Amino acid sequence: MTVKKNNVIFIMGVSGCGKTTIGNLLAESLRIPFFDGDDFHSQANVDKMSNGIPLNDEDRYGWLQTLNGLAKEQLEKQSCIIVCSALKQSYRDLLSQGIEKHTKWVHLAGTFDQIEARINNRSDHFMSSALLQSQFDTLEQPTDALTIDISLKPEDIVEKIREEIDMKSEFGLFGLGVMGKSLSRNLANNGFRVSLFNRHVDGLEEDVAVNFKNEHEELASALAFDDIEAFVNSLQRPRKIMLMVNAGKTIDIVIDLLMPHLSEGDIIIDGGNSNYNKTKARFEYLKAKQMHFIGTGVSGGEEGALKGPSIMPSGAKEAYKNVQPYLETIAAKDENKLPCCTYVGPEGSGHFVKMVHNGIEYAEMQLLAEVFSILSATGKDPDEIADILEGWKVTANSYLLEITVDILRKKENKDWLIHKILDKAGNKGTGNWATIATAQLGAPSTMMASALFARYISFYKDDRVEAQQHYGSHNDLSLEVSSEALLNTYQFARIINHHQGFGLIQQASGTYHWNINLSELARIWTGGCIIKSSLMVELVEILKDTDSILKSETIIKQIKALKPDANKVVSECILNELPVPCLSEALNFFNAFTTADSSANIIQAQRDYFGAHTYQRTDDGSGKFYHTNWSE
Ligand code: 6PG
Repeated sequence: MTVKKNNVIFIMGVSGCGKTTIGNLLAESLRIPFFDGDDFHSQANVDKMSNGIPLNDEDRYGWLQTLNGLAKEQLEKQSCIIVCSALKQSYRDLLSQGIEKHTKWVHLAGTFDQIEARINNRSDHFMSSALLQSQFDTLEQPTDALTIDISLKPEDIVEKIREEIDMKSEFGLFGLGVMGKSLSRNLANNGFRVSLFNRHVDGLEEDVAVNFKNEHEELASALAFDDIEAFVNSLQRPRKIMLMVNAGKTIDIVIDLLMPHLSEGDIIIDGGNSNYNKTKARFEYLKAKQMHFIGTGVSGGEEGALKGPSIMPSGAKEAYKNVQPYLETIAAKDENKLPCCTYVGPEGSGHFVKMVHNGIEYAEMQLLAEVFSILSATGKDPDEIADILEGWKVTANSYLLEITVDILRKKENKDWLIHKILDKAGNKGTGNWATIATAQLGAPSTMMASALFARYISFYKDDRVEAQQHYGSHNDLSLEVSSEALLNTYQFARIINHHQGFGLIQQASGTYHWNINLSELARIWTGGCIIKSSLMVELVEILKDTDSILKSETIIKQIKALKPDANKVVSECILNELPVPCLSEALNFFNAFTTADSSANIIQAQRDYFGAHTYQRTDDGSGKFYHTNWSE
């Protein structure tokens, strides 16, 4: 069902810009109520002003709150217009608090001379040049307003505002693939008016936007296009255009197609799985043109996009403010009803965390695949395995566990579908990038690398078949693994996986000065996304106290309880030649990470031996580097 959204139009600008005249005319034309902010001052403020004492921020605070309350009250019933100078951003933030998605700003802008001349022409009004100057000094230009030149005739100004606010769309969706379509419907279901664009390709993609609009009731007020210029012109300024096209070169091509039609302050949002380095470059490119680029991770697949995905946006903070009401409204909600969307950090940080999300996802998926192969090796069929995994939901629930249970139960002609699926795993690149990043940053996220390489090994199907003929099969297994021990092993490995993933983000955040809040990130991953789980919910609290999961007291206790089973299960698998790359990597990483005195001294000695790379000594705490002439 479509929700009709009421809006409050705030008309702002310095004294004398014509707010009241325009506000009245606009209200008349739109047939909605008009309120002059000045009529809502407290008696104390009125007394102060009539004694010629200028109001300070404290005086204004209560007044702005009153106006915010008025707006909220009106919104319950209908749209309305409120005029108020609102010169500072902090005033505007107060006015729109809690009603951000219902707020539209119009800034009536003129030069000092223009406004001074106007005021002095009015018989009933006087303002000294100094007072007017102080208004201009206080004015902080809004980035999210429709700015109108006051030299236009009042009726033309009203027409312009109507055209922009009443006729144009609030948000643009570029690219109507599966994700683009679902996000558009999600926006429309939340009462936003959207413009939809899909390219025209003869015989292949014809009238995609129009047909899509006509198929869905909630898109009744949406505008549909296959012409870029018309699409851009259909959007309120600053324009907000979300690209849902293939990551890679297509993004640059689309930016170049849009560019000639965009204006200063417009915002392009890339919601695909783009490489974070590319996002940084695009962010800089648009910044040089006084435009904004927001790279955002979006997780949750088709259903998430429609009903509430997890959203990971990054870029300039002021640009984020403009898209915040849209993204936070359509995002999934966490257990406290807060949106699973938060400002991640500057430039490419949103796509970086989405890339790591996918790295964690790869390892979580691989762990379940390994669990499946262990349980299969103990002679269980998919239904029996599904029953066991069903029981794990009590302590180890996750979206991926849930879908794996469903997958295992799915039958086709009395046989399990899983038996018919070719064992060659695909990938679209994010796991590969995450592994490159982990190597580049020197932050060992070894499990995502193992999971990625397990997919690559799987891809060599023909070679595997041939190799099995050379070396014999591993089918005569005598695995002794209880499902309880396996659950503990699985949970152990998942903790290591999350430790590594968040560790990689922490490292990047420090290196690139992104200042990412890990707990907040875990929070937006508790809903809507592929790696949502009960463990993630636990991590929200844990990451408030530490940025290294393995250092948490709660986790130390859990690991100590789980580890003995992990040792046994992984050893059993290795003795029985059952490949468990991710489970064993969890153990190997943990053992290395918890070894105070490692064998890296041998590496240092070897490096110094053949390359004079020097080493530090354990008996010299100064950190000095030594070289030994090893052949003497
Ligand atoms: C998500 C998914 C989604 C997609 C990835 C991974 O969070 O919704 O991660 O983005 O599944 O593209 O795909 P590959 O497994 O093909 O690399």
